[in-house]
Amino acid sequence: MFTKDDILRFETLETPFYFYNLEILEQTLKIITEVSSRYNYHVHYAFKANTNDHVLKLIQEYGLGADCVSGNEVKKALDYSFSKEKVVFAGVGKSDKEINLALDHDIFSFNCESIQELEVINELAEVKQKTARIALRINPNVMANTHRYITTGLEENKFGISQWELEAVVEKLEKLNNLELIGLHFHIGSQITDLTAFKSLCIRVNEIQEWFQNRNIPLKHINVGGGLGVDYHNPDENTIPDFETFFKIFDDFLELMPHQELHFELGRSVVAQCGALISKVLYIKNGVKTDFAILDAGMTELLRPALYQAYHKIESLTSKAKEQQKYDVVGPICESSDCFGKAIEIPKIQRGDLLAIRSAGAYGEVMALNYNLRDDVKAYYK
Ligand code: LLP
Repeated sequence: MFTKDDILRFETLETPFYFYNLEILEQTLKIITEVSSRYNYHVHYAFKANTNDHVLKLIQEYGLGADCVSGNEVKKALDYSFSKEKVVFAGVGKSDKEINLALDHDIFSFNCESIQELEVINELAEVKQKTARIALRINPNVMANTHRYITTGLEENKFGISQWELEAVVEKLEKLNNLELIGLHFHIGSQITDLTAFKSLCIRVNEIQEWFQNRNIPLKHINVGGGLGVDYHNPDENTIPDFETFFKIFDDFLELMPHQELHFELGRSVVAQCGALISKVLYIKNGVKTDFAILDAGMTELLRPALYQAYHKIESLTSKAKEQQKYDVVGPICESSDCFGKAIEIPKIQRGDLLAIRSAGAYGEVMALNYNLRDDVKAYYK
């Protein structure tokens, strides 16, 4: 991922910072568009994964739609020339202000998550004498086999409309004249590496589709969300996720009607591997079992390890040492969870060495915090 020149450049820059390799992003986008267009699938980029300007520009150039979860994301998508016919707005808690903004811009669809939300969108659309296109986000109760904080498709999660509520939802929709039901939406979770979860999702979607068919309710669009995982352990060997297998699962197992269109909302799999967090070693401190490498980046720049005990590969970029040593790699923040990895074996490092924390392009920069009055984290590109 890094050339000698990259590392020489890093040595002249103030750390910590995000580094994006836009060539990797472009290769990833090429594969996504090539494979998805083979099946005529529509891919929306999940803005929540990364809204860095350069990253968004490139994704927009490849013609992806935008999956947004806030009014500000909708606004940013439109500012970055994502076509409004390809903007979807999801989220369990859309405020009136956010709904009004999306209505004003005639976005493609609201993914709705509760009966009350349907009533509110209808009411606000009525005031504007508009018809809002909506998709029902249904909780499919499918196990994603991923971290519990990023599992969304189980009935115990707050997301989506449960299947036992469908009868009441359909009845309600008949009375809501300013809504047009255009489809169904699903999302079972994120960082899914056991792809059989997507097969289970297809089977469940087929059953739910049948329910609607039996009631003669037409659905033009099926949106199966995102969730494809990336290889955090081997970012150089598996830089581009296996989109071939992923899309093929839907082609093999999802029973679409001839007139139906299939949509995806991919976040992590698009951007994770193109980004790294570059940080400098401030201090080496002796510990009881392993030494601590104290970095100038912490959970404020990359929250995933502290929040989900997530693994990110850590590499030394500048150490010349032959000998390997184990370190607990930690940040400077006053929290014990501010730790990027325990007993990480890397070449012996010293104060001033640069480390790269890999696969940080997704849910990295966007989740940065100013806790402890930390500076905003900068970004550089190639
Ligand atoms: N669609 C919906 C409705 C979602 O909730 C999400 C992610 C996506 C699409 C995109 O999923 P992806 O392709 O990125 O897996 N901060 C966590 C991940 C949170 C994911 C939230 N929803 C992390 O750092 O792992």
